[in-house]
Amino acid sequence: MRIVTLEEHIMMKTVLITGANKGIGFETARQLAQLNHFVYLGSRDKEHGLEAIQKLNDLGITNVETIIIDVADINSVRQARQELEAKISSLDILINNAGIPGDQPQDFSTGGLENLRKIFDTNFFGAIQTTQEFLPLLRKSAQPSIINVSSEVGSISMRTEAGRNTNRDKYNAYGSSKTALNAFTVMLANELSDAGFSVNSVTPGYTATDLNQFQGAKTVEQGAMPIVKLATQSHPDTTAKFFKDGGEVPW
Ligand SMILES: NC(=O)c1ccc[n+]([C@@H]2O[C@H](COP(=O)([O-])OP(=O)(O)OC[C@H]3O[C@@H](n4cnc5c(N)ncnc54)[C@H](OP(=O)(O)O)[C@@H]3O)[C@@H](O)[C@H]2O)c1
Repeated sequence: MRIVTLEEHIMMKTVLITGANKGIGFETARQLAQLNHFVYLGSRDKEHGLEAIQKLNDLGITNVETIIIDVADINSVRQARQELEAKISSLDILINNAGIPGDQPQDFSTGGLENLRKIFDTNFFGAIQTTQEFLPLLRKSAQPSIINVSSEVGSISMRTEAGRNTNRDKYNAYGSSKTALNAFTVMLANELSDAGFSVNSVTPGYTATDLNQFQGAKTVEQGAMPIVKLATQSHPDTTAKFFKDGGEVPW
């Protein structure tokens, strides 16, 4: 086992990632833990969380623990918060990563309100209620950061640009949940600007995961990269921005 230096220990941050039992969330957990941060790996299913921890342990990563959290269920979020409060005195980074694509079709002209509500329950309200519950712990961090995992399909600018990709219409309900999530990012960032918070959106880009039946062009290693970069950014005062790999995304 490698001995952690005092300097590394001081740099080490405490991170909670929701929906981290697989996909981009899991890979983000792996990369951040390998950078010596302590990661609470959120999973709504206990067994899946433990399996994910076992996979990381098999890679020699031990600075991780799973925590059961279903972001769409306020009781589960409260329980997770109580569990974490008993273990840590502050939380440095909350990554609201849990997300669902919803069912198809999702065009607004033909209905699908139940589908829309279900998507928003996880992708929008889930992120908000998780953030609200963990804010007291985040406020105790010297450099608190909230990272909302969003998507280009939620960018109104990209949706309205000339020659837009109409294939994006396939993700109208999902995309609008990410547009709403982006609004949450900006408004929360403004609310918390005097409290030293960094609140940003980030997109992994089209990444091969269960979410898109592994059709995405990027690997999870690539998809997690902009999230990890934001979590470990050298300008912690950056706030109210929407990032992608290699730059910013227009709102
Ligand atoms: N893949 C892409 O191309 C892409 C592009 C842009 C943005 N994103 C975003 O990236 C994030 C991660 O997606 P992914 O591609 O890694 O998808 P994924 O492999 O399907 O992983 C989604 C994760 O979210 C969890 N989850 C779903 N509903 C939840 C809930 N109510 N409470 C807690 N956890 C919940 C899932 O848990 P279970 O295993 O229990 O279902 C899973 O761990 C999402 O926010 C997604 O919108 C993905």
